[in-house]
Amino acid sequence: MLTKSQAKAFFVFGTAAFSAIFIGLTIDTFQRIPDQTKSQNLTEEVIRGKHLFDTKNCMGCHTIMGEGAYYAPELTKVFERRGEAFIKAMLRDPEAMYPGQRKMTNYKLTEQEINDLTAFLIWVGNMDLNGFPPKPDLIKTASPKADGATSELDAVVKNENRPQIFNQMCVACHQLNGQGGEVGPALDLIGELRDINYLKEWLRNPMSIKPDSKMPKLPLSEEEITELAAYLSTLKKEKVK
Ligand code: HEC
Ligand code: HEC
Repeated sequence: MLTKSQAKAFFVFGTAAFSAIFIGLTIDTFQRIPDQTKSQNLTEEVIRGKHLFDTKNCMGCHTIMGEGAYYAPELTKVFERRGEAFIKAMLRDPEAMYPGQRKMTNYKLTEQEINDLTAFLIWVGNMDLNGFPPKPDLIKTASPKADGATSELDAVVKNENRPQIFNQMCVACHQLNGQGGEVGPALDLIGELRDINYLKEWLRNPMSIKPDSKMPKLPLSEEEITELAAYLSTLKKEKVK
């Protein structure tokens, strides 16, 4: 049994020691924040984007770092998942990227607002969040479907031959090896159906080939178009798998 004075000493010493540890850990956490948030990348654009994100109430439908509403996809890693071009096209015209689905507001944003919001989402995406969100949640995202339903799995397949932009943007609407969205046709055999020049022309502007095309004109650079067309033209029977 402790005597009264021993108990008192035990209490005082214990409280002091653990308070010191707690304060130490708090200071340590605060010291890491600039590093983990990459605060040197906080440009004017990012800051304006953050204000837009708040004032346009994007969190009314989306979560970011786990906070917000659960109607629409988590946006913390949207940059890694979709890439810059998809995000910009989405903000410009949500209906074009997810035809006939749940409605994301078309805010009629100016190009500068789109750039600012995108810069903010890129900054958020590059933060070191100690592994948040967990990987399994990363692939379980909404992807557009032809019938208006949302598919459970949006498989962003890592495949070395595939241009990165294909994994970010094209799989949102097209299947390859059975994985991807179902808005457009599967592309497994596209190399047998179309030659490289047709594919380039199509990617520059689908409407120039098919005026009522349901595929939007995507913001692709001439370099990306060349890379994608070259890749697509290799998708033939013997190459599948
Ligand atoms: C009224 C609800 C709503 C609001 C408000 C909203 N969104 Fe969305 N957003 C959606 C839905 C729903 C989707 C997914 C499309 C679908 O499933 O049809 C989406 C998709 C997105 C995507 C693509 C995500 C992906 O993984 O493909 C981005 C980027 C995005 N929203 C950004 C924003 C930003 C930035 C704002 C604020 C300026 C915003 N959203 C406001 C409903 C909303
Ligand atoms: C928002 C959805 C969407 C996105 C994103 C999208 N596509 Fe499409 N794509 C479609 C639809 C819908 C069609 C069918 C068009 C039609 O026939 O009206 C299509 C058709 C095609 C075709 C067939 C053309 C033909 O005439 O045979 C190719 C090739 C193609 N897409 C490539 C791509 C590539 C590469 C990307 C990524 C850069 C991409 N698509 C992104 C919706 C999309």
